[in-house]
Amino acid sequence: MGQTEKWWKNAVVYQIYPRSFQDSNGDGIGDLPGIIQRLDYLETLGIDAVWLSPVCRSPQDDNGYDISDYQDIDPMFGTLSDMETLIREAGKRGIRIIMDLVLNHTSDEHPWFREALKGRDNPYHDYYVWRDGKEGVLPNDLRACFGGPAWEWVPELGQYYLHQFSVRQPDLNWESPKVRREIYDMILWWMEKGVGGFRLDVIDQIAKEPDRMITNNGPRLHEFIQELSRETFQKGDLITVGEAWGATTELAKRYSNPDGSEFSMVFQFEHIGLDQQEGGEKWDLAPLPFRKLKEVLGKWQTALYGCGWNSLFWNNHDLPRIVSRWGNDCVYRTESAKMLAVLLHGMQGTPYIYQGEELGMTNARYSIEDYRDIELLNMYRERIAKGYPKEQVMESVYAKGRDNARTPMQWDAGPQAGFTDGTPWIKVNPNHQEINAASQVGVEGSVFEFYRKLIVLRKTFPIFADGRFEMLLEDDEEIFAYRREDTESRLLVVCNFFGNTVSRPISKLCGGMDLILTNYGSSADSPSTSCETLRPYEARIYYQHK
Ligand code: NOJ
Repeated sequence: MGQTEKWWKNAVVYQIYPRSFQDSNGDGIGDLPGIIQRLDYLETLGIDAVWLSPVCRSPQDDNGYDISDYQDIDPMFGTLSDMETLIREAGKRGIRIIMDLVLNHTSDEHPWFREALKGRDNPYHDYYVWRDGKEGVLPNDLRACFGGPAWEWVPELGQYYLHQFSVRQPDLNWESPKVRREIYDMILWWMEKGVGGFRLDVIDQIAKEPDRMITNNGPRLHEFIQELSRETFQKGDLITVGEAWGATTELAKRYSNPDGSEFSMVFQFEHIGLDQQEGGEKWDLAPLPFRKLKEVLGKWQTALYGCGWNSLFWNNHDLPRIVSRWGNDCVYRTESAKMLAVLLHGMQGTPYIYQGEELGMTNARYSIEDYRDIELLNMYRERIAKGYPKEQVMESVYAKGRDNARTPMQWDAGPQAGFTDGTPWIKVNPNHQEINAASQVGVEGSVFEFYRKLIVLRKTFPIFADGRFEMLLEDDEEIFAYRREDTESRLLVVCNFFGNTVSRPISKLCGGMDLILTNYGSSADSPSTSCETLRPYEARIYYQHK
């Protein structure tokens, strides 16, 4: 089966975090009309689909990942009619809208949960996961992902409910066929509205067996996903991407089976967890083991070839900005942002660009009062209470806090970066005066124009989607290099991952090939120095038609 027959195998997806993208009404929160105003920008970039983080009605305890009505838009973002306009206007520009489906849990304000609280014999009680017990004696030691126990006591019922995330995000009971049917009907309703796909939030956590301490990859997981896919996605030509922190390559082959029985692809995070201490949490910082990064990314490329499909990403709304994380956001910000883009976009899979990544936006350094994220603030309180030194906790916040990715989109150098006329819900990064879209769109040499070129290359040369991957210079401590090959052509990607100038026998690898993209120099001409010398964060793509 050819790799290119599904439209999403040639697509590039752009993720929008709506509350931080563009405010249109001065309330300091981004909204759907704001996104509509910026569609031309997205069209210029050349992307094919937009993944929208949740815009459904929600009390916003976890910025919309706590939904109280799956079939309405939160008034802070606009109306259902704005959503319909967005789908239509995006469609005119060849852009599909991917919605974020949060199916593991709802908000505690969802009518189902409100009913469930009314009594053990209420028809909705079984929509959630309950355990009998005594106040203060938890069913077991399960911990919530945002800190604290995963059980919350309801005195009126004499029961605990399960919440893998915040107390205000009760877990849905997927064992109940009624819950599953409600979900399918809701998805079909959105499909009728013309959405182009779905991103499935923490989908590997739906099939939980809390008594056996199983939260990820429960025994019935793939049965549930296959039913979900059969009842909904397979009735349309959609892109579906599951978020699966616990995925291995073997599991990912099931999730992204080319027979279409589950999803198009999954977001797996093996590479993303490499810079933390073993056995620790993400906040326990460790240097990136570079060779391990190569090993992990290479493994995913090889394992899924022909029998699955990768998502390619460095960033999302839960992760720090990649240029600050594994690039250099000072002297070599532009060069390293481009190098990281080349490294990722040259691989096989569907690339995801997170808003602002295409500008080389960086992490922020605020004082603790200026952060908003529930996960970050819970961690801060917990660690300070445990006696961690404040400086150390703040270093973790600066390095890994989710708000790094959630500061407002930097449109221009003006007040509030052109994001809002009001007071933004979270502070704008002061570096917007230097890093912003207005100074990059149409400007040769900018990070934005570089991303644009990468997208054009992917559309021009089928090898980006098709080619078999081979890692080169595996043991090299500084260079990330690989080859791609299909029946008609060859591609070579060489990246200096660090800030030193190094020499390598590149001419042996690139003989007979044309340099089609480099992050040094303004066009695809040969690098000004010798081919063997790689300058700080230098990245090159060579191509040859056989
Ligand atoms: C994963 C989402 O990406 C994250 O932002 C959210 O907090 C959790 N799932 C809970 O829904």
